[in-house]
Amino acid sequence: MVGKNLLSVADLSGEDIRLLISNTVEMKAERRLSMLDGKILALLFEKPSLRTKVSFEVAMQQLGGHAVYLSPAEVGLGQRESVSDVAQVLSRYVDAIAARTFAQQTLEVLASYSDVPVINALSDLEHPCQALADFFTIFEKKGELEGVTLAFIGDGNNVAHSLLLVASLIGVNFRIASPPGYGVQESIMRLAQGFAMESGAELLFTEEPHSAVTQADVVYTDVWASMGQETEAERRRQLFARYQVNEELISLAKADVIFMHPLPAHHGQEVAEGILESLPSVVFDQAENRLHLQKALLAQMLGGLEIPLTGYR
Ligand code: NVA
Repeated sequence: MVGKNLLSVADLSGEDIRLLISNTVEMKAERRLSMLDGKILALLFEKPSLRTKVSFEVAMQQLGGHAVYLSPAEVGLGQRESVSDVAQVLSRYVDAIAARTFAQQTLEVLASYSDVPVINALSDLEHPCQALADFFTIFEKKGELEGVTLAFIGDGNNVAHSLLLVASLIGVNFRIASPPGYGVQESIMRLAQGFAMESGAELLFTEEPHSAVTQADVVYTDVWASMGQETEAERRRQLFARYQVNEELISLAKADVIFMHPLPAHHGQEVAEGILESLPSVVFDQAENRLHLQKALLAQMLGGLEIPLTGYR
């Protein structure tokens, strides 16, 4: 992974993901290390952020480096200045770029003109750091990933895509229930099916929330309208009404089910009021683990990490 981009989960192998999860275990135990002494990360964002911005900034600081945040208004990516010029300029100053963009294509252009690694910090197509951190959280809570079944209820969006790809690469069973026309993209589904043939992951794409959740170990949901889809929010609220994660739906899962959400959440929409604060919810662990996973990721990508593979599998 040293010097490589992370634009999609599919840039990683199952082995890379296992190593990353294992390194995150070590990283979480250590807290402060100086392995990225003097390294600088640019955070180039076209959309708002709480967790991603703060966790990347803190990650760099705890590893001895520094992050420079560039807000949407400051850069005017592709408007005030072309994406290719921004990539070339930033490459002269920083050691890596974490970018949050609307289009995946913008990330591809950034990466192709950048001399330093580019990390996808969320695009309309994927959210790799979220999904990788989430599988670390599942590993932490369940003690293993082998035989785990994750049920995603709702929009086949960026988070769903990355979760599906990680699951199919490492052999976790993945089910998704979405309204007709709102499932995962065909190209991502095919990619995942190819990975699953190798890893043995069982995949289910359905319109029925009940079939997805029955006997699942993890129930996961995300907003019905993602950033950039605000004008569709009302229509989606009606279309997705039957896909709310509530007590009744969760009761179909295994007794030790955990509930996950990448946040921000819309209480009373994709998730019933109160679920986020109730017992099986691990959403704030997910938020915390973004920090630990990204520390392991940055340390690996920027060449500072030589933690041996331990513990996991
Ligand atoms: N699907 C959501 C995820 C936010 C972390 C969005 O793109 O807005």
